[in-house]
Amino acid sequence: MSKKILITGGAGFIGSHVVRLFVNKYPSYHIFNLDALTYAGNLENIKDIAEATNYTFIKGDINDVNFLNTLFDEHKFDGVIHLAAESHVDRSIKNPNIFIETNVIGTANLLSAFKDACQSDFKNKLFYNISTDEVYGSLGKTGLFTEETPYDPQSPYAASKAASDHMVRAFGNTFQLPFIISNCSNNYGANHFPEKLIPLCIHNIKKNKSLPVYGDGQYTRDWLFVEDHANAIDLIFHEGKVGETYNIGGCNEWTNLDLVHLLCELMDEKLDREKGHSAKLITFVKDRAGHDRRYAIDASKLMNELGWRPSVSFEEGLVKTINWYFTNEKWLTNVTSGSYKDYYKNMYH
Ligand code: NAD
Ligand code: DAU
Repeated sequence: MSKKILITGGAGFIGSHVVRLFVNKYPSYHIFNLDALTYAGNLENIKDIAEATNYTFIKGDINDVNFLNTLFDEHKFDGVIHLAAESHVDRSIKNPNIFIETNVIGTANLLSAFKDACQSDFKNKLFYNISTDEVYGSLGKTGLFTEETPYDPQSPYAASKAASDHMVRAFGNTFQLPFIISNCSNNYGANHFPEKLIPLCIHNIKKNKSLPVYGDGQYTRDWLFVEDHANAIDLIFHEGKVGETYNIGGCNEWTNLDLVHLLCELMDEKLDREKGHSAKLITFVKDRAGHDRRYAIDASKLMNELGWRPSVSFEEGLVKTINWYFTNEKWLTNVTSGSYKDYYKNMYH
């Protein structure tokens, strides 16, 4: 069946994998990719599908209400998969307001534009909000986040994503707008912007630069390969139940310190360096303010109801990721020149 689908944030890290999957897998759909191309958006991430006949890129800002209303009126999208966001916790600590503008108000703008364009006829329509496990707050040593875990966001980023989810549910309740929300754990893979832990370490190990580990390094994250997240989004978009929430995670918990050690080992092998060389670059630095201690997802609902499974082991995924950064040196050089240098200096010195 032919559908018009709007994917927001499709020039970013996860969005680019989702756009590529949908464009290639569903030739009968038309995929519109709306992205403002902030520092995190990069058309290089999706250059392989730029000429596809079922694909259109639209540069635009979800904070621009008039632009959104015109766009939705013109295209009457069947579905929206909403990924556009400010996504980095450290940036939200330095400047919370942009997170409120894009993640909260931007989401509300999209919901209103979608609702108005549908004119209350929501048959076969869906608004799918891509959210994060950070809305649930921080876990102690045991336990997992389930779909019933109460929201308890701790950073401005997490609070803005929680507010975005609340807004989606409120539109569902008030206007009967059909929605689904999924909350995913930490992603890694190709095209990950090197402000985040894994690509930052890959970049720094290559350059023999120090590897900044916040606090005691015992903070724990549950890592998932980005293509497995994209596959989950595809499955949930097509087979998920309207009005439901699905948690997505890798069942793959690592403390930051163990993870950085593993990266050092894999990179030493790749670079033909003496064993233990890169681990000497590990440097403990000042902790992130309000740092969440542990995230871990219970993805059993998604696995049992929709049959989703992660497809690669962590080590396989990391090797693929490292190889991607080696074969795409130009990408890394481009994104780490210019404003990244100021960001890095400001964050780490
Ligand atoms: P990203 O920062 O790599 O990409 C965000 C994209 O949104 C960029 O292309 C950017 O240009 C675009 N964007 C930002 N502001 C915009 C605006 N005002 N209008 C239009 N486009 C705008 O982020 P990501 O890591 O790919 O995350 C994508 C989504 O998934 C986010 O909603 C994030 O909260 C969520 N998420 C991320 C992770 C993760 O580990 N990265 C995990 C769970 C959920
Ligand atoms: O859990 C899902 C979330 O994962 C997403 O919603 C966010 O968009 C995404 O950025 C990610 O958030 P984190 O804060 O967990 O990711 P980050 O890569 O920034 O940090 C991972 C862990 O590593 C965290 O405990 C902080 C730590 N860290 C990070 C950086 C950048 C360091 O120790 N040193 C660093 O230099």
